[in-house]
Amino acid sequence: MATAVQENPLTKGLERLPVHPTTLVIFGATGDLAHRKLLPALYNLAHEGALPERFNLIGFSRSEHEHEDYKAMARESIERFSRRSPKPEVLDALLEHVKYIPGNFDDAAGYEQLSKQIEAFDEQAGVTFNRVFYLSTAPEFFPVIVQALGEHKLNRHKDAEVRVVIEKPFGTDLESARELNRIVLRSFREQQVFRIDHYLGKETVQNMMAFRFANAMFEPVWNRNYIDHVQITAAEDIGIGTRAGYYDHAGALRDLVQNHILQLLTLLCMEPPVSFTADEVRDEKVKVLHAIQPPRAEDVAEIAVRGQYTSGVVGGEQVRGYLEEDGVPADSRTETYVALRLKVSNWRWAGVPIYLRTGKCLARKVTEIAVTLKPVPHLAFQQEGSVGVQPNQLVLTVQPNEGVSLSLGAKIPGATMRIRPVNMEFQYGTSFMSESPEAYERLILDAMRGEATLFTRNDEVDALWSIIDPILKGWASQDGGPLPQYEAGSQGPEEADRLVEGGAHWRAL
Ligand code: BG6
Repeated sequence: MATAVQENPLTKGLERLPVHPTTLVIFGATGDLAHRKLLPALYNLAHEGALPERFNLIGFSRSEHEHEDYKAMARESIERFSRRSPKPEVLDALLEHVKYIPGNFDDAAGYEQLSKQIEAFDEQAGVTFNRVFYLSTAPEFFPVIVQALGEHKLNRHKDAEVRVVIEKPFGTDLESARELNRIVLRSFREQQVFRIDHYLGKETVQNMMAFRFANAMFEPVWNRNYIDHVQITAAEDIGIGTRAGYYDHAGALRDLVQNHILQLLTLLCMEPPVSFTADEVRDEKVKVLHAIQPPRAEDVAEIAVRGQYTSGVVGGEQVRGYLEEDGVPADSRTETYVALRLKVSNWRWAGVPIYLRTGKCLARKVTEIAVTLKPVPHLAFQQEGSVGVQPNQLVLTVQPNEGVSLSLGAKIPGATMRIRPVNMEFQYGTSFMSESPEAYERLILDAMRGEATLFTRNDEVDALWSIIDPILKGWASQDGGPLPQYEAGSQGPEEADRLVEGGAHWRAL
């Protein structure tokens, strides 16, 4: 008798949702993102039985390859980067429906071939597949590709859903993002567009909504009456690797704050949505962004600090300074660290400082949101020695050691009333006993399902850049002024300390 597969009771509720048959086209199919993230994510979806039962993949890139070469490349990427070691039968079945089309992104012939291949898949299977176009190319090709899809009538189909997924960066400033939105919306309706921010695909980021809106105990204190300040940190211990070409034009503000960190801020600060539909959630997020007063040029120096790493030791290893990295100009003034003090000016948050920071080559990798409550109004046992009394702090850790921790004041055993903080912890690993899916697995699946909650809407992109743009302009006008430096492996530039008001400090990395 076959033994029944025992279900892990803690993963009850993890669902499989039906997805319409889909043909996914990846533009930039031989690029780094496709190899490291997209192809392994597709494998893991297949492994879980979460991909549509009928699924085709078309890789589209500039380099010449045969279908079979591309399949071999895809197999290698999956074997190397998948979070699970692949099962041969699942991998073979996935690769069976893979094709490759070489073509320049502005060349009509490639799109004609693409169109034929998509139709051939439909005819062979006798079904009209939904189409998802995933733009994972260098950003200068985003407008070229969406325009070409429109010109070749690949942007709509009378019997199928057609969607386009656009990677980051979406524009390099407010103006270019608006222009890109205009071009995209000439070929596609907003409901067809899925702008990626992979942080929204992280389980722990989505947990912020569950945490706030599935528990009655936090909302009553989630406001200016109880919260003293908030710190959002996205620290990295790695440098820029081989990405100087991109990074030196971007810098930390564009690379991480404009998208990932501000997304964390919106989820932390938004009002409870009426429902979890894409537009209800995104409406609330946009309202938060609108409540952040973009700084005036003259205030930028007061609310923003940037820095650049010099050589140092990270995780026991000697690393080079930013200016010595391959491909970085010797006089580059690109920031590899940024810290900001923002205010959300609405009834809930008025007056609460929200500190944001990110940087490369810092002491350790950690992404967390720390909410510090105000001190208790009166300490009755002051005389007895209450040295250890600290305000409560709630820390939502996005990565690593994913979880939530709440610090509470507790009495130290003994005859006197001495207090010290203790932590109440929830950890993902121990509570669910299963590895979280990678952000891209969730996002690819959502795009195929047409579920847009975890993607950035056009007005949201506009609102995000409206906050960042004045800072970029303020910095540009200060060029020539000193650029703070910090040693690789450190806590970041000392100058960032002055942003933090009212006797608070940055949390140690
Ligand atoms: C990317 C940035 O969007 O996010 C990178 O371009 C950064 O510079 C990365 O390293 C961080 O992502 P994660 O998921 O490792 O926190």
